[in-house]
Amino acid sequence: MNDCSRFLGLITIILLYFCFSFSFALDISYDEKALTIDGERKIIISGSIHYPRSTPEMWPSLIKKAKEGGLNAIETYVFWNAHEPIYRQYDFSENLDLVRFIRAIHDEGLYAILRIGPYVCAEWNYGGFPVWLHNIPGIAFRTNNEVYENEMKIFTTLIVDMVRDEGLFASEGGPIILAQINTCNGWYCDGFNPSSGIPKMWTENWSGWYKGWGQKTPHRTAEDLAFAVARFFQYGGTLQNYYMYHGGTNFGRVSGGPYIATTYDYDAPLDEYGNLNQPKWGHLKQLHLLIRSMENILTHAVIRNVEYGNMMTATIFEYRGERVCFFGNANDKDDITINFENNNYTIPAWSVSILPDCYTEAYNTARVNTQTSNMVMKLNDADEYQEPYNLQWTWRSEHFEHLKFNDKKMENDYIYTGNQLMDQKFANDTSDYLWYMTSVDIDHKDPAWKNNVTLKVHTAGHVLHAFVNGKHVGSQWAKGGRYEFDFESKIKMKNGTNLISLLSVTVGLENYGDHFDEIKNGIHGPVKLMGDNNQVKDLQNSTWTYKVGIHGIDNKKLYLRKNRYDQKWKSENLPTDRMFVWYQTTFMAPLENDPVVLDLLGFGKGIAWVNGHNIGRYWPSFFADDNGCDYKCDYRGTYSSSKCLSGCDQSSQRWYHVPRSFLQDDDNLLVFFEEFGGNPTNLKIQTVTVGTICANAYEGNKLELSCQGGTISEIKFASYGNPRGSCGSFERGTCESPNTTTIIKNACVGKGSCVIDASEFTFPNNCKLVGQRLAVEAIC
Ligand SMILES: *[C@@H]1O[C@H](CO)[C@@H](O)[C@H](O)[C@H]1NC(C)=O
Ligand SMILES: *[C@@H]1O[C@H](CO)[C@@H](O)[C@H](O)[C@H]1NC(C)=O
Ligand SMILES: *[C@@H]1O[C@H](CO)[C@@H](O)[C@H](O)[C@H]1NC(C)=O
Ligand SMILES: *[C@@H]1O[C@H](CO)[C@@H](O)[C@H](O)[C@H]1NC(C)=O
Ligand SMILES: *[C@@H]1O[C@H](CO)[C@@H](O)[C@H](O)[C@H]1NC(C)=O
Ligand SMILES: *[C@@H]1O[C@H](CO)[C@@H](O)[C@H](O)[C@H]1NC(C)=O
Ligand SMILES: *[C@@H]1O[C@H](CO)[C@@H](O)[C@H](O)[C@H]1NC(C)=O
Repeated sequence: MNDCSRFLGLITIILLYFCFSFSFALDISYDEKALTIDGERKIIISGSIHYPRSTPEMWPSLIKKAKEGGLNAIETYVFWNAHEPIYRQYDFSENLDLVRFIRAIHDEGLYAILRIGPYVCAEWNYGGFPVWLHNIPGIAFRTNNEVYENEMKIFTTLIVDMVRDEGLFASEGGPIILAQINTCNGWYCDGFNPSSGIPKMWTENWSGWYKGWGQKTPHRTAEDLAFAVARFFQYGGTLQNYYMYHGGTNFGRVSGGPYIATTYDYDAPLDEYGNLNQPKWGHLKQLHLLIRSMENILTHAVIRNVEYGNMMTATIFEYRGERVCFFGNANDKDDITINFENNNYTIPAWSVSILPDCYTEAYNTARVNTQTSNMVMKLNDADEYQEPYNLQWTWRSEHFEHLKFNDKKMENDYIYTGNQLMDQKFANDTSDYLWYMTSVDIDHKDPAWKNNVTLKVHTAGHVLHAFVNGKHVGSQWAKGGRYEFDFESKIKMKNGTNLISLLSVTVGLENYGDHFDEIKNGIHGPVKLMGDNNQVKDLQNSTWTYKVGIHGIDNKKLYLRKNRYDQKWKSENLPTDRMFVWYQTTFMAPLENDPVVLDLLGFGKGIAWVNGHNIGRYWPSFFADDNGCDYKCDYRGTYSSSKCLSGCDQSSQRWYHVPRSFLQDDDNLLVFFEEFGGNPTNLKIQTVTVGTICANAYEGNKLELSCQGGTISEIKFASYGNPRGSCGSFERGTCESPNTTTIIKNACVGKGSCVIDASEFTFPNNCKLVGQRLAVEAIC
């Protein structure tokens, strides 16, 4: 697992405040405590949402849910290589419409934080740099290099001018602050101390972690994330940003890594599809609202710490006679009871309690009073045939490229580079695919080359398919970790001229690490033929000819509707498990508005398009290994990306998001380029919806249940008393209020949501227990 925190030296943060009236110019500044807006110190709770990882149609709802979740700012990077994929050809259309995204933030009355980069890390292809930049002679990245600085300036100026021209900047009445800021990125930032005079800001609070092909599913618990956030504010923090608040989807070829999956769910408070990730979203919402309600005290107070030993600290904020207390227990094993001003408080291990009056606990990070929602995939209800799908498939083969000496039409696509193997980046990364082609003359009079010949290729990844005389002789791919490997295959050579074609396939370019921009991609060699009697033909310096891309993708654009009836699509003898096959079908959009996914289990690896939109690379055949899953995920103790994993021995990504805006009601065209070979007849078109929900509420709190759009149909479990276990595996305790289930049924069944007081008043009982709780599991 990698992280990008080392590379965030220069972060440009532009704070944009959008006032509701054009004429209001707000004054934005900062002092050692906080950002100030019109002279008032502010607590900023921000979340990252990367606009290209969702769609313009999703933005308003994502931003609204962020606001409801207690955020007052949205942060995004600006992605240079998405906006300038080809030198001086800019793209701000559809989900690259930065201005529309900032306006959507404005419409909800939130602040925007813009990180123009140019480096973005973000598991984004090549860290956001266009690959053509790498190919400019004399360039060196991220250093004092004139060529680099000049290009960077051109792009940055373009963005700043664009935002200004749209009236989104301060100079036209909406105040903006632009600053180089010393900030912290990581999983915990309580120990971070900025240079003097700068407020304590946490620009990348990692809400979870990303997933790679072949990797398990990461999970950061709501308790631990809330603990980290609460501690940051306990230690004087005033601006924090969740990285990510909504992770989203790596559509097209935007993921970096290499080997970052198409899902960028990140276990963020809003899931990949924009649903609430509960309990994380709700548990943090309560924390945000509480912290923001104490803004004035937190940003002005004199702060005093009382150490109790054993990593237990009470922090008292005092301002003009008002007080706020944080009791932080950073011990990862022991719950600790402290006596504070003659009252006893028990703080669970690895948690923070917040007492807005230094007397009554209003929130504890380890006591989750928010429901857990288990999302489920439902079959397409628009399809009258139901399971199994009666989809009509047609298919055609993709041809293997090789040198053709007399075909002028084909030759126009070729790039001759002379007697050398080129790094794959020379082709400017307009495709994952690059053909390396050469020919070699063999004379069968020489017995060394007659029967026993081996082709050896060393490649810097990530996938290699090898062909001799138009026949596939083998494929290999990096399993992750190291992306270089040696390919070896016995081959048959004919007498005379033999054609060798090597297809190198990248799966996202590196986005982090020292000199990541110079890491090799593609075939650098050696490439050798090994004959009998240790004879060797070294092809390193043969004449290599290149073709960028796959004919059906880059030349014919078979994924577009206009090619749908091309006569080469066949309906008979649908092949399965054959490499280089195109498949197409059509389907009806599922009814209602639930997010749509394709279940691609059974497919190999390739690219899928829906109505011409590239929904990303798919690779469901890449399974995670079967060990390291932490079934007893304990929120206590320092989080790392190897903690609380799930998905062992399962496809690392089985479901692929199809945003609703890509769909029409009827006749949606679905096209696959299957690179490895798979079985399309397993395809399922599904919707994502809330299945079961469950919740806990401790005495004195409210229990809220919501089906996020659906209705509560059944109560599976309900107990008020001392139930055991956690969500999904509740068990009755030794004592409970007798009519709990009936009371919950009456309050909730048939409704979209319900709220119940967890108290002895609602649930009379004779248990005589201290700290009773209500536990409920329901079906949506
Ligand atoms: C940042 O996020 C990590 C987890 O993603 C969390 O542990 C940490 O407390 C957060 N820091 C801040 C300042 O919010
Ligand atoms: C707090 O705990 C101590 C030690 O258990 C006990 O002696 C004291 O009575 C408690 N105080 C209150 C107010 O409950
Ligand atoms: C890569 O981009 C550069 C700059 O636009 C251009 O000069 C060069 O021809 C491109 N290379 C290829 C192989 O298209
Ligand atoms: C192989 O081809 C060469 C011409 O390229 C020819 O001279 C030779 O006789 C052929 N050998 C055999 C064994 O066919
Ligand atoms: C094929 O050639 C290799 C070396 O080039 C040799 O090690 C191997 O024994 C040979 N195999 C046969 C069946 O002749
Ligand atoms: C290929 O050419 C390079 C540069 O001319 C040379 O350094 C290298 O030794 C050659 N390699 C082989 C295997 O001929
Ligand atoms: C539980 O419900 C029954 C019947 O509805 C009622 O007679 C009984 O008093 C209730 N018990 C409590 C503790 O509320």
